[in-house]
Order: sequence, then structure tokens, then C-alpha cells
Amino acid sequence: MKLTARTILITGGSSGIGLELAGQLIARSNVVIVTGRHDGALEAAKRRFPGLQAFRSDASAAEDIHALHDTLIARFPELDTLINNAGIMRIVKLAEERPLDDVTREIDIDLNGPIRMVQRFLPHLLSRPDALIVNVSSGLAFVPFPISPIYSAAKAGLRAYTRCLRVQLEGTNVTVVELAPPLTETPLFSTEFKDRMKGEKGMPVDVLVRRSIAAIEDGKTEIRPGPSNILKIASRVAPETMLGQLSKVGRS
Ligand SMILES: NC(=O)c1ccc[n+]([C@@H]2O[C@H](COP(=O)([O-])OP(=O)(O)OC[C@H]3O[C@@H](n4cnc5c(N)ncnc54)[C@H](OP(=O)(O)O)[C@@H]3O)[C@@H](O)[C@H]2O)c1
Repeated sequence: MKLTARTILITGGSSGIGLELAGQLIARSNVVIVTGRHDGALEAAKRRFPGLQAFRSDASAAEDIHALHDTLIARFPELDTLINNAGIMRIVKLAEERPLDDVTREIDIDLNGPIRMVQRFLPHLLSRPDALIVNVSSGLAFVPFPISPIYSAAKAGLRAYTRCLRVQLEGTNVTVVELAPPLTETPLFSTEFKDRMKGEKGMPVDVLVRRSIAAIEDGKTEIRPGPSNILKIASRVAPETMLGQLSKVGRS
């Protein structure tokens, strides 16, 4: 599958992996549309990549997904690619008090977001000759990261959902890809995690995106760059050892 001359929607495209995907995909002559929750960040993305289309839309809000769908299908009927990339990741101490609607934020955005986006956009994608859905999970979909329990649950859930989706869409015109990035140098990682992970360096975001685009073009449907592949293998051969290793990371 060539990633050129397509019309591509990227959720969470105002920063990090989504923004880099947008830049590299625009450079390959695609029409690229990004979403995010903040107008300032979306405007900055448009200034950085002239030609980029940007819409404010919260991936965790059903009404935003309906409105986005109706706007985009009218304005970009050639839309043939959906990249579910929007996500948040927090350190959550489960023994601390936390409002019930706050504790599940990663489930709302990182798991329910892609499921609802696919639910709404799939009828349109099925009408296109050669459509593509990319769900961005994580290496932590293979082994949970105890300081980020809700994130780990959301990404493992997204991986399971994506595998089911791929089976259900077999024989249709829609290809389903899971991209499981390893630790990557983006604003998500540069916050509280950087301090906790003393000296750990992530994969440069431009490298991650270049490798991911090449893997999709090679026909790979499960993309596990670098350390993500090691996490998958370790989750099979030594799951408890790997969990033990990740349990030590970030312990304060
Ligand atoms: N960086 C890593 O080490 C790493 C590793 C594995 C997987 N990933 C995954 O890769 C994806 C991108 O992460 P990143 O590192 O690029 O993070 P990032 O730099 O923090 O970017 C996240 C993007 O998602 C948007 N976003 C967050 N919540 C949203 C919502 N409810 N609706 C719409 N947009 C939303 C953000 O914009 P607003 O805040 O303005 O909405 C931003 O554009 C995530 O799914 C993440 O879990 C990252």
C-alpha cells in the first residue's frame, strides 16, 4: 500500500507523533487533516505545515466525533485513511483519592476514542476503494507499566480491539494496522516521565514515523519498532520477569 495521494485524518495531530506523521505525510503528497482539543496548538501546526487542515475535536466526546464526521465527509469525500493517534498517559497512584470520572481518562481517550471513531467512520471507509485504519497502541500493550495502570489497560484493550477489527474486516477494502511505538521523544514523554526515567532516551520521533510509514508500505499490519518488539517477545517468553523490570522503572 502506497502512502501517497491519500486523504488522511490523524487524531491528536497537533503534537508529537501525530504532528510528525502529518509533516511526513504532507511531504508525500497526501491531504492531511489533524484534530486536537486546543485551537492554539492546531494553529501552530498549520503554520508549521502549510496546507495542513486542522479541526478542534475531542476524541473522547461522542458529539465531537459525530460533528467531525459530518463536516469531513462533506468537505473531504475522498477521505480514505484514519489514524487513531490521540492519547494521554499519566502516572496514577491507585491508592490515592481520585474522582471516578478522572481515573478513567485514558480509557475515555486512548481506548473509547478509537473505538468510537472507527464506529462512526467505518461506513465511509468501506465505501472507498482502498482504505486504511491505523490504531496507535504502545509497546506497553504487551507488558503493563505499573506506574501507568490505566494507560496500560487502555493500550492492551486497544490492541485486542484492533486484532478483532482486523479479523472482522478481512476480505474487505479496509486494511487494519496496529502501530505500537516504543518510548519516543515527544511532549508526552518529556513531562513527568522524563524525571522518573532518569537518563532513558526515547526513539527520535522522525525516525519512528519514517520507520512506521515504510512498514505500512511494506504491508506490515503489526508494527513494533525497536524496543516494542522486544517487549512483545518478552511478554511471551518471560512475562513475569518483564513485569518485574517495568515495576522498577519510575518507582519514586
Ligand atoms: N511518546 C511515546 O513514548 C509513546 C509511546 C507509545 C505510544 N505512544 C502513543 O502515541 C500517541 C501519540 O503520543 P505522543 O507521544 O505524540 O503524545 P503528545 O505529544 O502528547 O501528543 C498527543 C496529541 O493528542 C492530542 N490529544 C490528547 N487528548 C486528545 C483528545 N481527547 N482528543 C483529541 N486529541 C487529543 C494532543 O492535543 P491536545 O492536548 O491539544 O488535545 C496532541 O496533539 C498516543 O496514543 C500515545 O499513547 C506514545
